[in-house]
Amino acid sequence: MKSFAAYKSMADAFLQQAITVPAGEEGGLAESMRYSLLAGGKRIRPVLALAFCDALGGDIEKALPAACALEMIHTYSLIHDDLPCMDDDVLRRGKPTNHVVYGECTATLAGDALQSLAFETLASAPLESGRIVRCLKILSEAAGYRGMCQGQFLDMEGEGKSLTAEELTHINNLKTGALLSAACRMGAAAAGADEKQLEAAGTFGSLLGLAFQIRDDVLDVISTDAELGKSVGSDVQEHKNTYMALLGMEGCNREISRLTASAVAVLEENFTDTAFLSDLARSLAERVN
Ligand code: IPE
Ligand code: IPE
Ligand code: MG
Ligand code: MG
Ligand code: MG
Repeated sequence: MKSFAAYKSMADAFLQQAITVPAGEEGGLAESMRYSLLAGGKRIRPVLALAFCDALGGDIEKALPAACALEMIHTYSLIHDDLPCMDDDVLRRGKPTNHVVYGECTATLAGDALQSLAFETLASAPLESGRIVRCLKILSEAAGYRGMCQGQFLDMEGEGKSLTAEELTHINNLKTGALLSAACRMGAAAAGADEKQLEAAGTFGSLLGLAFQIRDDVLDVISTDAELGKSVGSDVQEHKNTYMALLGMEGCNREISRLTASAVAVLEENFTDTAFLSDLARSLAERVN
């Protein structure tokens, strides 16, 4: 198993060359896509995919395009999430949001085009075709109306309403858990995992995803714009339902610990090479950005 930094640098290098700005089209759509994709995300989703592939004995070089397809979908979701019609935020990954720099129309299209590019990239991976199809199915389901988009829709619908913990968990499972679960399953699928391993990888990713979103809600309250690289206080301003509002700081920390412990237990019950992924789950529980 490699280190977080090693997996991340593989993803960064691939993403760096994924979009070329055609001569004479500077300042256009391709440049706006590159702007957000290369603005400096943590690359958690590609790292999870590569680490699962590695843990199951797969070829991580062949899985790299699949891992980076996840980051393209994720980046598109962030560009759209920041739009004035959604969370209306001006800071992302330490830089002005896409629509602040390029305007709302271009930002919308940059998100759309990153989504298409994700599927083109995944379809072009040097994996066995059956494994590509399995990954395509996982990613398309996780990104769409039974996954992230539905979660984002319900998140918007819930603004200003008081939701129950169950309703909020449902939203978080969709808006954040779906893509993190997909990352783990795609890594496993790229390595040729069986159904049982795929399901265990998905369960780990869902538990991690819930903990990840709760920590995101906590950081929106306790962090600073400079440390987080995005505007803190956005949730209160947009009248969001969050675990911070529902459970408070202590309740959130308890829930994050519980979910992280469950995630690690799923790993240990189903896989042998678990040290890297367990450490990653524990470190994400305490992340500061
Ligand atoms: C932010 O995701 C949005 C959520 C799903 C909570 P990340 O915290 O992974 O953001 P980047 O990719 O590092 O910018
Ligand atoms: C968004 O959740 C999750 C996505 C699917 C993009 P948030 O709205 O809390 O994410 P941030 O805090 O803006 O990164
Ligand atoms: Mg949002
Ligand atoms: Mg947001
Ligand atoms: Mg947030």
